[in-house]
Amino acid sequence: MPALDEATALAGGFDLRALPPSFYDDPYPTYRALREQAPVKRMPDGSVLLTRWADLDRVYRDTRTFSSDKHVEFAPKYGATPLYEHHTTSLVFNDPPLHTRVRRLIMGALTPRAIGGMEPALVGLVEGLLDAMAAKGEVDLIEDFAAAIPIEVIGNLLGVPAEERGPLRGWSLAILGALEPVVTPEAAARGNAAVTGFLAYLRGLVARRRAAPLDPATCVLTRLIQGEESGDRLTEAELLHNCIFLLNAGHETTTNLIGNGLEALLRHPAEKARLLAEPGLINAAVEEVLRYESSNQLGNRGVASPCEIGGVALAPGTLVTLCIGAANRDPAQFPDPERFDIGRMPNRHLAFAAGAHQCAGLALARLEGRIAISRFLARFPGYAVSAPPVRGGRARFRGFLRLPVRLG
Ligand code: HEM
Repeated sequence: MPALDEATALAGGFDLRALPPSFYDDPYPTYRALREQAPVKRMPDGSVLLTRWADLDRVYRDTRTFSSDKHVEFAPKYGATPLYEHHTTSLVFNDPPLHTRVRRLIMGALTPRAIGGMEPALVGLVEGLLDAMAAKGEVDLIEDFAAAIPIEVIGNLLGVPAEERGPLRGWSLAILGALEPVVTPEAAARGNAAVTGFLAYLRGLVARRRAAPLDPATCVLTRLIQGEESGDRLTEAELLHNCIFLLNAGHETTTNLIGNGLEALLRHPAEKARLLAEPGLINAAVEEVLRYESSNQLGNRGVASPCEIGGVALAPGTLVTLCIGAANRDPAQFPDPERFDIGRMPNRHLAFAAGAHQCAGLALARLEGRIAISRFLARFPGYAVSAPPVRGGRARFRGFLRLPVRLG
């Protein structure tokens, strides 16, 4: 726990656009200081950062007062570039009517029945990866396991042929990297090249899918194309950019859920032993990983009409950053919040946000997390770190680039 003067310094000097290197390792003392001392923290650029659970829950649910539309905010950040077109066309950064139209089409392919139908293939994929890792003995849990799962799942969901999935992860990392609070010219160039490459690839895939549709009950791309033809019209740009968004949204976040979960269990051996003794706790354990080390730490909204949060008046146009990682450790919502407790119940975390934009893929992410973590643990209960893990170094997407382990 930071001492009072240390906490005052952390909260007082906090600027999301100038984070010290130590923040990426462990942001939680800073989050705590902010929650306690400046829960509606005004940044030097005029935006505010919220860290209390109740404030985030309110903002996420009030879509009239707090807009997701990023056309104004992203104009100076990206200029007239492919990244600007991409982000301002995807459903997550829009309000109705575009948001409603695209979300309805996507949700039709993510019903509980459709997700249940994905389980056998997912189990087969995970078991195959476990076999391949067993043969190696020493592995990188990110590259050999955590990142290999979502790319296949989301590739299946969009009907991307298996042999064409190679570039997807690199594109996705480059596009998401450009969402960091500060974007260097190099990161922007990588992001723009990735959007351009992704669009060129998807144009070809859409043409092939128009000629030879897959089952719209399970293939989101076919659904989006047919929706487009049946009156729920998406323009060509809307179709392509929302496919890119889906591939990105379902990828890095889920990789981090699996990687963060297996790393958190290593750091908390008693909780690992508890899960091994009581495998039925896996669902609660996945929720706790989502709360304790949320893959997506930051959300954003813009104030659409005058309002007040925690006694601070916010004018229309004010940018609001929602700190999910801080809200998920708010003692007003979670008893003993700094404790990793795989049996925690209730656990109303905000890792998937809340309200109209709540994660459309949450059931799929939970299924992937449950199968990956439980099967890995059952197969390699004695896994141990073999070299220092390397963090991704991002404020928004929290996870590891490398997590080398000996399987034991
Ligand atoms: C652990 C994994 C995941 C986490 C932590 C996560 C987190 C989130 C969050 C916080 C949002 C809300 C963003 C906002 O409005 O500010 C969101 C939206 C979304 N997510 Fe996820 N996500 C995960 C996995 C997935 C997967 C697997 C898919 C796809 C199959 C997916 C698809 C989406 C979509 C389409 C949206 C936009 C929903 C909308 O705007 O209505 N996500 N996700």
